[in-house]
Amino acid sequence: MDAKKISEHVYAIHADICSTALFEGIWPIPSGVTLNSYVVKSEKTALIDFMRDWEDAPSKLEAQCRSIGVSLHKIDYLILNHLEPDHAGHIRMFKEMNPGVEIIATKKGINLVRNFFKIQDNLREVKTGDTLDLGGGIVLSFMETPNIHWPETMMSYEISEQILFSGDAFGTFGTINGGVLDSQTRLEFYKDEMRRYYSNIVGKYSSMVQKAFAKVAGVPIQMICSLHGPVWKDHVAEVISMYDRWSRYEAEPGVMIAYASMYGNTARMADHIAMLMAQKGVRDIVVHDVSKTHISYLINDIWKYRGVILGSCAYNSEMFPPMEALCRDMVHMQVKNKTLGLFGGYSWNGGGVRNLCKWAEEIGWEQVAPAVEMHGRPTAEKYAACEELASAMAAKLLGGEGYKPAEPCTPVE
Ligand SMILES: Cc1cc2nc3c(=O)[nH]c(=O)nc-3n(C[C@H](O)[C@H](O)[C@H](O)COP(=O)(O)O)c2cc1C
Ligand SMILES: [Fe+2]
Ligand SMILES: [Fe+2]
Repeated sequence: MDAKKISEHVYAIHADICSTALFEGIWPIPSGVTLNSYVVKSEKTALIDFMRDWEDAPSKLEAQCRSIGVSLHKIDYLILNHLEPDHAGHIRMFKEMNPGVEIIATKKGINLVRNFFKIQDNLREVKTGDTLDLGGGIVLSFMETPNIHWPETMMSYEISEQILFSGDAFGTFGTINGGVLDSQTRLEFYKDEMRRYYSNIVGKYSSMVQKAFAKVAGVPIQMICSLHGPVWKDHVAEVISMYDRWSRYEAEPGVMIAYASMYGNTARMADHIAMLMAQKGVRDIVVHDVSKTHISYLINDIWKYRGVILGSCAYNSEMFPPMEALCRDMVHMQVKNKTLGLFGGYSWNGGGVRNLCKWAEEIGWEQVAPAVEMHGRPTAEKYAACEELASAMAAKLLGGEGYKPAEPCTPVE
């Protein structure tokens, strides 16, 4: 695979990671992920971000640089927008090949270079507004963007070609399979995987994304070169708007119903609530069994939909453990602006619904109706309470528009 020329002076370098099951040891990547680096070539040559030693990625990087006549030994500058090991993991090898290279990062980034890679010379700290002149009218400008995704992160911007090198921001799961520009790939696939990447990895730092947006407001952008996935060119405005909405927790008027059930009673309520939501005009409804669906996809759907309905059976006086893990994660990630419904089961002392209610107070999401707690198996009375919950949720999601008053449902006992 050769490097891809994406502008007069910029080349994209990609390594598709296909046989690794989990990203960061936790997030499933059934469709893989790319690691991207970029070469900016003028009188001087800069390499923007590196790769970890993952499925032979550094050798691919070296071969692709060679394909455009760039030897790693001759690169003048290594710009590290982000020091996480998926990008910086192999820089010691690079430094040994090219001892004269100047490494450029933020103050915190340079600290990580010193501590993790024991590199002590030719290091340059940069701040927002600092620039690097590569000659021939090609100038890179730097902007600190802390916590997108680590505290040391920055973005680089090539001024004459108006190209933003955005680090993890605007990255996505999924390999690029031959294409390089967004126009050569399946955008629909990436939209969903980009939200999963955002919600799983960057989402906790949404307020920092908003701060970064404030900094780049008004800067003309022809292309966004992120560290994972295609180069955004035709869809720059669209991906910026997606990121803006996600980082403001703005979601679609659908609902995710997630339940925890060992013997099917809580699942029966979930199924009933889903049916009621459909009857009331909500069209985007997803139902997940938390024992089956990986938390990565649950987080993604919580980011996607405004409505969240959670149900848990009781388990050792607590919620069922995977549900508890999901709820804990929502608190850690400080997810906001959700409309909540709760249900679950009680056998001898409960714990599922009780703890869901405690958690609801902690997270502060708007609860649309009282939690529905059944004893053993749902009765007509509990199904009626589900109806109240579903009506309230549908009214919140759809407002006046499309909302149908409750139709009679026959409880199945
Ligand atoms: C390991 C285990 C622990 C349980 N702990 C509790 C409990 O603390 N309180 C309770 O009321 N029921 C408890 N139960 C009973 C479950 O609530 C009961 O099996 C119920 O059917 C589970 O809901 P489901 O039918 O939706 O799976 C426990 C069951 C198991 C298997
Ligand atoms: Fe990262
Ligand atoms: Fe990354």
